[in-house]
Amino acid sequence: MKIINNLFLALVLISIPSQSIASYAQSDISSDGVVATQHYLATEIGENILTQGGNAYDAAIAVGFALAVVLPRAGNIGGGGFMVIYDEDSNDTYAIDYREKAPAASFRDMYLDENGEFDILKSTFGYNAIGVPGTVHGFWSVHQRFGSLPWADLIQPAIILAERGFVMSDYMAQTLNNYSEKMSYYDETRNIFLRNYPNLKDSRLIQNDLAKTLKRIQKDGLNGFYSGETASLIAADMKENGGLITEQDLLDYRSVWRDPIKGTYRGKTIVTMPPPSSGGIHLIQMLNILENFELDTYEHNSYQYVSLLSETMKYAYADRSEYLGDPDFFEVPISKITSKEYAKKISASIKELGVLPSSKINPGMYINPESNETTHFSIADKFGNVISNTYTINSAFGSGVTIKGTGILMNNEMDDFSGQPGVPNQFGLLGGIANEIEPAKRPLSSMTPTIVFDNDEPFLAIGSPGGSRIITAVLQIILNVIDFEQSLEEATDSKRVHHQWYPDDIDIEETYNQINELIDLGYKIDIIDTATCTQSIMIDDGEFIGVSDLRRPDSLALGVKND
Ligand code: DON
Repeated sequence: MKIINNLFLALVLISIPSQSIASYAQSDISSDGVVATQHYLATEIGENILTQGGNAYDAAIAVGFALAVVLPRAGNIGGGGFMVIYDEDSNDTYAIDYREKAPAASFRDMYLDENGEFDILKSTFGYNAIGVPGTVHGFWSVHQRFGSLPWADLIQPAIILAERGFVMSDYMAQTLNNYSEKMSYYDETRNIFLRNYPNLKDSRLIQNDLAKTLKRIQKDGLNGFYSGETASLIAADMKENGGLITEQDLLDYRSVWRDPIKGTYRGKTIVTMPPPSSGGIHLIQMLNILENFELDTYEHNSYQYVSLLSETMKYAYADRSEYLGDPDFFEVPISKITSKEYAKKISASIKELGVLPSSKINPGMYINPESNETTHFSIADKFGNVISNTYTINSAFGSGVTIKGTGILMNNEMDDFSGQPGVPNQFGLLGGIANEIEPAKRPLSSMTPTIVFDNDEPFLAIGSPGGSRIITAVLQIILNVIDFEQSLEEATDSKRVHHQWYPDDIDIEETYNQINELIDLGYKIDIIDTATCTQSIMIDDGEFIGVSDLRRPDSLALGVKND
């Protein structure tokens, strides 16, 4: 049972203890484009693509494949994600959903044990936790529509990194050591990632099978993953280990172009991800609520401000539990939840009633009755295109499963479904019918890739990992910049807080000094290690400012070097 206990710990500790550093923000500036990612090698590859004259889409695809090699905790081809785009040529915004899908053989109660109780180990670890991956399909679709350099050239850097290997940083070695229990359960995973355990620092991570898989994708595009050798290796390994994904599931997978969600906040336009992510809807909902308060009269991160944020967050996460799911399966009341009118009612309630325990807040209280390891990157190019992309395998190192012979580390995205009403998933999130498991359905996400516009021009690109805390991290960057006029570095550095309705407590990053005042107001406080890691770009007067969040220390923002 040791694996179970330690695994659970690993799931709870999504964040790796941060190194103590004075500032979390690392930045760079250029007038020719910028790349911000969670790994310096991926950032350098992206910057190189832009320098060669590639566009932001090319750079995003190259970065996405590179992260699958150098950031195995989150970067992936065995997972899925979302990309929000501003395209200069068409002067329009786009959103692509390449979220994983439940296999055809999945069913609602698949994670209940013989006593009818939800078994979180089943939904988070091993072959049964895996959704049908969408990443390769998503990148392919983006390339087909907007790419300018050859597909093969964009995968080549990742192949070289996988084949020749790269030297593991202190932070990466520490991360792998922390997850050694999880990463040693399956031989395939252990043999690749823990070969030199426990002396991983400065050792070279070589991923030969992954290089071969990437070469098939390089040569055959979609068929290099969703059919042919890769697909049959995935299906065979699944079958041998009791997993559900078949060759047909892979063949049936499609990414989907969706209309981005749009809102306004104090005159700026917010363009963000629609369902099956809950991120965009609740980001806009919370901004709408907060627009009814004069935030600039609050001291930043004072207890009064943290209290206001917390009350706002509770209403949003309550609604999330009831109304949010895959829009192809459940009618999500997007316009109601994002309406200014609804936000006014909630803000009036906050003004009148002040701090309410979560038990007094119900989903949709003021809706008119008639009517859940991840990484983010942001890229901007000199042509004017802007990309905000978040993708994931859910927990750090996903399900712990590496498909035999492929080097593909698989997601555990199935835990983002609501396995049983009223029972929280690994992020403590609750859900109901809207997000119950159905074949081919996409699990609800919190990923919030977002672009903010000022006078119709892209101004900010943001996003983060962090499970349920993603939405509130993105929210606070926007508030810090717009209401508190912080620089992007300061906005990144500032301590973050989070409330998600249940559990009924405020998560606060360490060293917050007004905890007693919040306790006096009736709050329970949970002091947390860093959990989020934003990768942001601000576009200001023709300059691109990239800011990486060193809450995960390998992060790097790099501007294109002007000659
Ligand atoms: O889609 C979601 O909301 C989750 N699967 C994201 C997981 C995550 O951010 C974990 N990273 N720290």
